[in-house]
Amino acid sequence: MLHIAPSILTADFTRLGEEVTAAFDAGIRWLHLDVMDGRFVPNISFGPLVVRSLRPIAESYGAIVDAHLMIADPDRYLEEFAAAGCDYITVHAEVCPHLHRTVQQIRSLGKKPGVALNPATSLTALEDILPDISLALIMSVNPGFGGQRFIPESLNKITRLRRMIDERGLSEKIELQVDGGVNKDLIAAVRDAGATVAVTGSAVYAPGRDRAEMIADLQKALA
Ligand code: DX5
Ligand code: ZN
Repeated sequence: MLHIAPSILTADFTRLGEEVTAAFDAGIRWLHLDVMDGRFVPNISFGPLVVRSLRPIAESYGAIVDAHLMIADPDRYLEEFAAAGCDYITVHAEVCPHLHRTVQQIRSLGKKPGVALNPATSLTALEDILPDISLALIMSVNPGFGGQRFIPESLNKITRLRRMIDERGLSEKIELQVDGGVNKDLIAAVRDAGATVAVTGSAVYAPGRDRAEMIADLQKALA
């Protein structure tokens, strides 16, 4: 079973509520919110305010909200994102010198901790934290922008992480999320490699395209 988790980065920001509602009406039950600070990544997106605004819509559909924090020193903002109503809070291993502490802090705020790895970061960064997290995020592009091309080596990384999770008996506890460049031509391969959540930005929110049609194309590719 693969969840499709739309990212709103390329959505129409003048009508964000309608954009996420269109995805939920098409059967989506997971929303991925990309937070960027202009420091860890070159782009700036949005903060807790947008999470807080979209949360009630997600809740009315029984959908999960995950915040992908592409920000330096995320510890400073964990409380705010927890209060904004995320189910999962995902931080990048590259910016967390005390990752174990950060993960415990997310847990103590009553949220599910996720850890993301950039394309060049080895899976060994996850090895010792794996039993403590609820989501592992493999970046299949360099974070910062929507609409980039999927890095093909990511498939092998997903396969290896799947094996690591299964071998340690953690498959019931950890979602394996893949983020970046996933489209209708790649989504089945991403699932087959072992992902349980596929983030799709421009494959759902392409300018001028019908959201339900885009989602149906992804579902067709998975059938
Ligand atoms: C990249 C973000 C992604 C991305 C998804 O920095 O984390 O969530 O915008 O968009 P697509 O699917 O267009 O790559
Ligand atoms: Zn993301």
